Amino acid sequence: MTLDIFTEARSAKVFHDTPVTVDQLKSLYEVAKWAPSESNSCPMRLTFVHSDAAKAKLRPFIVEPNRPKSDSAPVIAIVAYDSAFTDHLATLAPHLPSPSYFDQMPPDAREWSGFRSANLQAGMLIAAARAMGLDCGPLGGFDRAGVDQAFYADSTWRTSFLLMLGHANAEENYPRGARPDFEQACELL
Ligand SMILES: Cc1cc2nc3c(=O)[nH]c(=O)nc-3n(C[C@H](O)[C@H](O)[C@H](O)COP(=O)(O)O)c2cc1C
Repeated sequence: MTLDIFTEARSAKVFHDTPVTVDQLKSLYEVAKWAPSESNSCPMRLTFVHSDAAKAKLRPFIVEPNRPKSDSAPVIAIVAYDSAFTDHLATLAPHLPSPSYFDQMPPDAREWSGFRSANLQAGMLIAAARAMGLDCGPLGGFDRAGVDQAFYADSTWRTSFLLMLGHANAEENYPRGARPDFEQACELL
């Protein structure tokens, strides 16, 4: 197995206009859905912003310096989590008693648990996209509350970050940043 999807792949900044098809997005989800999550709660939700109308709806919430990047992306996924993820445990986690330990948690702890697993799933979504030949550009520079209001006002889904998907113009990549080395980032106890 090649490790290039970790060591060589970059966070894309500008994309070629090569389209990403709906079939590719469905295939991507079919791979990424196998990511681990707490008690298999699978709280990650994805809104694939693909049409011109949906892109126009999202654009005002993206900070100005990120707009040339997002404008070039054939697809922008709103990576979200379902704050009501426990509604699906009977199907996803039939091994848990009902009510489950999630129901005993304070609401903010339950929400945090969903947020944690959704972001972990999203990391594997990025790895899956790269393995399938797509480039990814995560974006945190946007108005998260505004996106929630515009896209999820009548929903229990809540935004975490945006993920541009497509085929990168690698010439536009930023110089690669350093990473903390093992001694800085890890402990051996
Ligand atoms: C949660 C998150 C938010 C990010 N937000 C932005 C952003 O708003 N704009 C941007 O250009 N890059 C953004 N990035 C990309 C990072 O800057 C990039 O992943 C990091 O510098 C490593 O770059 P590399 O993968 O090319 O080595 C974000 C990445 C993550 C994971």
